[in-house]
Amino acid sequence: MCGIIGYIGKRNAIPVLINGLKRLEYRGYDSAGIAFFSGNKISVRRCAGKIKDLESAIKGEKLRSVAGLGHTRWATHGRPSEDNAHPHRAGGTVLVHNGIIENYFELKEDLRKKGHVFKSETDTEVISHLIHSFLQKGLSFEDAMREALKLLEGSYAIGVINEKEPGRMLAVKKDSPLVLGLGDGEFFIASDIPAFLKYTRDVIILENNELVSITNKGVSISALNTGKPVRREATRITWSPTMAEKGGYRHFMLKEIYEQPRAVADTIRGRVFPERGEVNLEEFSLRESDLRKIGKVFLIACGTSWHAALVGKYMIEDMARVPCEVDIASEFRYRKPIVPKDSFVIVITQSGETADTIAAQREARKLGARVLTICNVVGSTSSREADSVFYTHSGPEIGVASTKAFTTQLIGLYLFSIALAKAKGGIASGQIKELFSELLQLPEKIKKALQINDQVLKIAKKFCYTRDFLYLGRGINYPIALEGALKLKEISYIHAEGYPAGEMKHGPIALIDNSMPVLALAPDDQVLEKILSNMEEVNSRGGKVIAVTTEGVKKVFAHASDILFMPKTNSYLTPVIFAIPMHLLAYHMAVLKKCNVDQPRNLAKSVTVE
Ligand code: F6R
Repeated sequence: MCGIIGYIGKRNAIPVLINGLKRLEYRGYDSAGIAFFSGNKISVRRCAGKIKDLESAIKGEKLRSVAGLGHTRWATHGRPSEDNAHPHRAGGTVLVHNGIIENYFELKEDLRKKGHVFKSETDTEVISHLIHSFLQKGLSFEDAMREALKLLEGSYAIGVINEKEPGRMLAVKKDSPLVLGLGDGEFFIASDIPAFLKYTRDVIILENNELVSITNKGVSISALNTGKPVRREATRITWSPTMAEKGGYRHFMLKEIYEQPRAVADTIRGRVFPERGEVNLEEFSLRESDLRKIGKVFLIACGTSWHAALVGKYMIEDMARVPCEVDIASEFRYRKPIVPKDSFVIVITQSGETADTIAAQREARKLGARVLTICNVVGSTSSREADSVFYTHSGPEIGVASTKAFTTQLIGLYLFSIALAKAKGGIASGQIKELFSELLQLPEKIKKALQINDQVLKIAKKFCYTRDFLYLGRGINYPIALEGALKLKEISYIHAEGYPAGEMKHGPIALIDNSMPVLALAPDDQVLEKILSNMEEVNSRGGKVIAVTTEGVKKVFAHASDILFMPKTNSYLTPVIFAIPMHLLAYHMAVLKKCNVDQPRNLAKSVTVE
C-alpha cells in the first residue's frame, strides 16, 4: 500500500522525508520519490526500487527545502517504474496519492482531448492535471483542489504542493488513511503515524472529506464541500515506533485481519456496475465474447490460495454451470493434465511469485489455455505472464499467514462467476443485482463479524493446549474448514485437519474423544441439518463441539458447547464471513502459546523455490 509523508517547518525537509519513507517501508512498496522546493520551483526525484536507491540518486547534492512530499508506491495501475512512481506533476502542481481513482480512464480521455499530455500509466496523474487545469482558469490553489476533487470517484489520500504558493501544502482524504502531525513550528502529513513519530507525538487522525491547509504558521481544517472550518483535537500517541508500524496492533496478522473491510471494499471498488447489473470486465482484461467460449475452467494455486480455488469451483459451477477442476499447482505441473481447447485457467496467488504456481501457469499456457491470474502484487511474475489479470487490492500482506489476501481472492472469484454466468446466459439481471447488493454490504458485515473477537479469545483460552483439532464443513464452506485447519497448524503448531463433515464417519471419527475439539461450520444453508447430525455424532462420542453458525440459528444450542454467531449473507459469500473466526482463532491460539505469529517457524511469505 502506498505511503505518504509531507513536511513543512523549520528543518531541512529532505532528511525528514527520507526518514519518514523508511518508517513506512513496512507497508510494502516497489518505487519511491520525493518532491521539494528549490527556491520557488519544485524539484522531483523518483526511482523504481528501494529508498536506499533514492538516497543514492540524491547523494552528493546539497539539497535544502522547508517543505516537501515523499511517497512509497505499491503499484495498482501501471507497473513499478520511475515514470509511474510518485510524486506526479502537471505544470507547477505536484502531488502524491494513496488509493484508487475509479473513473481515471474517463477523466484522462477528457483531459487528453483538452491537450493534456500524460507521462505515466497511473490513475494518480489525472489528479495533478485536474488541479493544474483549474489553476489555469485562475482559481486559487485551495479552490482548484476543491473543484478537482468534485470530479474524482474512488478512494484517496492526497498531499499537494504548488509553485504558485510555495509556503502551503494541501491534503485531503477519502477512504484511505491520512494523519496529521503537529510539532513545534513544524507540521506533517502521513499515511501512518510512524512516519513522523520521531518528531512529534501529537496527532490528528483525519476524517473523510476534510481538507487540510498547512503553512509553517499552522494548520487549518475545513469541510471539503462547504469550506466550513472543522475543529479537531489532537491525540497524544504513547505507542512505541514498532507498535505504531502495526497501527497499534500487536501483530501484522491481526492488523491484516482487521483491514479486511477496507481490503474487500477496495477490491470491489470500480469492478461492478450495480445499476447495469454488470461486472466491469475491463478489470479482468476480458471480453464477454471470451467468456462465452469457455467450456471448462481449471483453478490452480497453492496453500490458502488453493482453498480460495476450491470455493471458486463451487461459485463457478453453481452460478455459471461450467465444469471446473481444481488443482494444487505442484500436482498440476507434473500430472499430465488433459486441457481441452476451450479451457480457461485461473491461477490464484497472493504474491504472484510462488514457484509451483508459476510453473503450473507456464504449463497451462503451453497446453494452449488462456490464463487469468488473481493476484495481489502488480508487476509480479504471474501477472506479467498471464493473459489477463485481476488484482486484489488488499494491499501488501506482511504476516506470513494469508488472511486479507484470501478474502479478496474470493471477491475476484465471485465477480468472475457472475460475469461467466451472465455471458453464458445462465443468470437473470435481477439475480445479478441481488448478488451485487449483497456484495456491496459485505464490508459492513465483515466489520460486524470482527466484533466476535473477544468470544474467539475465550474459546482460544479454553483450547490452546489441545494437541489436535478437527474442522468440519460442507459444500462451499468445506474449503473454509481446510483453511481453519491450515491456519492453526502453521501459526500455533497444533495438529489440525479439515474434513468435509460427511466424510467424518469414514475414518476421522475414530479420533473423537473428550480431548479432541471439533469446530463445525454450520451456516444457515441447505446442509445445516446435515451438519447438525455430524455434530451430534461428535457429542455422542464425548467430543467437544465449537459451532460457527449464522445469527438467529437457535437449533445449534442443542449441539455445541461453544457457539459463534456470524452475520447473514448469501451462501456464496459465507466463506468470506466464516473465514474471519478461523483466522482469529488461529491467531489467538498462537499468541497464547507464545508462538511467532508473523513469522512462523520453517515458513516463508513467498515460496519461490519448488
Ligand atoms: C497460508 C499461506 C500459504 C500461501 C501459499 C501460496 O497462510 O499464506 O499457504 O497461501 O504459499 O502463496 P501465494 O498465494 O503467494 O501463491
